[in-house]
Amino acid sequence: MRSAESTGSTTEARATDASGTEASDTGPHSDWWRNAVIYQVYPRSFADGNGDGTGDLAGVRRRLPYLAALGVDALWFTPWYRSPQADGGYDVADYREIDPAFGTLADAEHLIAEARGLGIRTIVDIVPNHVSDAHEWFREALAAPPGDPARARFWFHDGKGPGGDLIPTDWVSSFGGDTWTRTTGPDGEPGQWYLHLFAPQQPDLNWSHPDVAAEHEAVLRFWYDRGVAGVRIDSASMLAKDPALPDLGQDHEPGLHPHLDRDEVHDVYRRWRKIADSYEEPRLLVGEVWLEDNDRFVRYLREDEMHMAFNFDFMSRPWDAAALADSIRATFAAHAAVAAPPTWVLSNHDVTRPVTRYGREDSSFAFLAKRFGTPTDLDLGARRARAAALLTAALPGVLYVYQGDELGLPEVEDLPEGTRQDPMHFRTNGVDPGRDGCRVPLPWNANGPTFGFNENGAATWLPQPAGWGDRAAASQESDPDSFLHLYREAIRLRRNEPSLRGDAFAWSETAPDVLAFRRGEDVTCVVNFGDAPAALPAHTEVLLASSPLQGDLLPTDTAVWLRA
Ligand code: NOJ
Repeated sequence: MRSAESTGSTTEARATDASGTEASDTGPHSDWWRNAVIYQVYPRSFADGNGDGTGDLAGVRRRLPYLAALGVDALWFTPWYRSPQADGGYDVADYREIDPAFGTLADAEHLIAEARGLGIRTIVDIVPNHVSDAHEWFREALAAPPGDPARARFWFHDGKGPGGDLIPTDWVSSFGGDTWTRTTGPDGEPGQWYLHLFAPQQPDLNWSHPDVAAEHEAVLRFWYDRGVAGVRIDSASMLAKDPALPDLGQDHEPGLHPHLDRDEVHDVYRRWRKIADSYEEPRLLVGEVWLEDNDRFVRYLREDEMHMAFNFDFMSRPWDAAALADSIRATFAAHAAVAAPPTWVLSNHDVTRPVTRYGREDSSFAFLAKRFGTPTDLDLGARRARAAALLTAALPGVLYVYQGDELGLPEVEDLPEGTRQDPMHFRTNGVDPGRDGCRVPLPWNANGPTFGFNENGAATWLPQPAGWGDRAAASQESDPDSFLHLYREAIRLRRNEPSLRGDAFAWSETAPDVLAFRRGEDVTCVVNFGDAPAALPAHTEVLLASSPLQGDLLPTDTAVWLRA
């Protein structure tokens, strides 16, 4: 870690200037984000303002007071652009338009300004690896003959074997299945194949084409100019491909895999960083970088690249003291080499909700391990998810909260047949339950046909479980022991306790099933993963506990913040 004081003074006060984008925490260039709380909005499922069953920007605008009361510093919106929604908006047809289901560009501009007036910045999602097959570039490419320049922005290729009937490479899609789809010529005959590391509706762009680079730089400026504070970069390590299109083969030297984490991808982010830094309040680059090798991971966080990247290593670990301590140590060690802060993530729109995951025998997360019918104990999971919330909120760095985790929503595992939409489910022939279960529209009120997701009760795009009224935001409002109160209080303390603001962190000696660390001068976080209650260290005050304490004992699966 860097020295204790190096970033401690950067988020002194929350911007409250209602005049909009000029407001800043400690000056125009303050690193407001270094220990920010960033709340992820999945717009389709957050709140429905126009009563069509799909969430939208009007819904978010209406709920901004809720987000301000939660105390978050920024909102990250998963893609809100025009899209056929073949992959929940990660199939972008036009970056400069808002999907009509969500609203208009003017709505987005109002939302950005209104949020900023409440001290909340906005981060938008950029999906550079691929576009939608409805994007005008891809339509042009499909209509053009092989060899035409319009095809050079993508990866069109002849198939192997007689008649070109075999796929050009053996690369495997992140969604399961092949990564190439064959086109049909105007004469109805099979033609070339095109590459898609995800669904066929998401053709991969060719990043060695100058149009591709120029267009994305223009898109960055388009959104930065509209006052967004940063971009989250989708599938950030996948953009560059080996132009020779080799098969996967066995092992690859770092940086030389045919389509993952190739060294030349960093040039893209160096160019983007220059653009981000050219604004008076420098804009952010946040990377979605799934890499097992921490040394390769932090290369994306070098001084002239991204500002931060999601910590999926921590997110994927089981509820286990040694496993989580190991991840925290590894995170600090990896980030020691760069100026970027660590991030702490419990979930997002792609992974099983913590309440469900932590109630399982194997509480780690892995895409390939997701199966229907995995037993879970939701009470146990909820208890652990509350403790995990306090553990992550106590760590130095940036905290991400996925919408609904602050309500303790579980994964919806029993969505009715025919309602699932996620390509991950279909491309594994239904073996993988997919990601719909963490994307179910939020419950706002205790009652009503959609629990306040909309006012007219129009059926939600994914059905909500009966009984979600008890988990609704309004229901939790009146219960001081609710998830919502726990999150709010944790975020409030994180902001107001000087010890929780800087980087200072020191492990404390504990029994093997207990994690404890001190932050700054006087705050200690203790988490008990063991089966038996653990003795609390000496303290003068209990700041916050995830479950009731038993006198001076910390019950199992409980976290506490102490003044010590
Ligand atoms: C990562 C996103 O988080 C996920 O939802 C999406 O399906 C893939 N990238 C492809 O864009």
